[in-house]
Amino acid sequence: MSRVGGDPRAGVTVRAPGKVNLTLSVGPRRPDGYHELTTVFLAVGLHDVVRIAPAARLTVTVRGPGAADIPAGDGNLAARAVRLIARAAGVEPAVAVHIDKRIPVAGGMAGGSADAAAALVGCDALWGLGLPREDLRLLAAELGSDVGFPLYGGVALGTGRGELLTPLETSGAGVFHWVFAVSPHGLATPAVFQEYDRLRRTRPADGERVAAERVAAVTDALDSGDAALLAAAVKDANDLQEAALSLRPELADTLRLGPEHGALAGLVSGSGPTCAFLTESAHAAATLATALSATDRYRDVLVAVGPTGGCSAVPD
Ligand code: C5P
Repeated sequence: MSRVGGDPRAGVTVRAPGKVNLTLSVGPRRPDGYHELTTVFLAVGLHDVVRIAPAARLTVTVRGPGAADIPAGDGNLAARAVRLIARAAGVEPAVAVHIDKRIPVAGGMAGGSADAAAALVGCDALWGLGLPREDLRLLAAELGSDVGFPLYGGVALGTGRGELLTPLETSGAGVFHWVFAVSPHGLATPAVFQEYDRLRRTRPADGERVAAERVAAVTDALDSGDAALLAAAVKDANDLQEAALSLRPELADTLRLGPEHGALAGLVSGSGPTCAFLTESAHAAATLATALSATDRYRDVLVAVGPTGGCSAVPD
């Protein structure tokens, strides 16, 4: 979506939100190697800013915390997104992509996926394609399980391998206050799923019922706008948490630290290692962030509200 103003052909800027999984129920491993998931995504107001402008050839540059760990150029997921939408539209992928990182890299908050989603939205606007979001979602699904959600933002149920999305309309005007403790070293998502498989040799028979109950509890809590209810609903609702803790035992200390400084709940975000804390107010979030920062254990401590909107392109 472009706003009236500048000329999108000169370049566009897209703000792409990070996410936290309020529930993450992992089902069986499929023949293609992916796991069936039932998850509730929540978009949070930590944004990467992605600028896309016409150029002689496709380039990707990245700036910000953790930028050195991100493949620049052709191996970047945003570069793959540009090539994919260019091929679909029958145009040359001749753009310069510049990413200002704020979402933790390899942190379980889908930062790389957000950048790829931003690249799809940005190229769509730059080239005047006007593709419906659903078409962009189908392209996103080819790039990764988490790439579709930042196109929509808000709150959504994710099924399949996470790429099938159903927006959850929550009637509550609730905005929730979050604090994120970013570990000094990231975790690779495949390694966490592998650890999950190692720990859970047999799958509980009641997995589907538990997944549905978690979704219902979180949806009710979001509707109520009550942070304490949401805290109860997200507790122990991420099946990947145990695997992330097994690979990074020190995360258990972080999860304990949050409630000691006023957090209503703490959870590993997605596949981790970022820990997300839900607090009751902006003030409580600031107090917790100060306490966590003072420990000097984290690469970064970030405060954000959620839910927030999805990617949208603004002409330069
Ligand atoms: O889809 P994406 O490329 O982001 O997934 C990265 C890796 O995470 C996959 O290769 C797989 O190892 C693991 N994964 C999974 N089940 C999912 C999503 C991801 O096993 N539903």
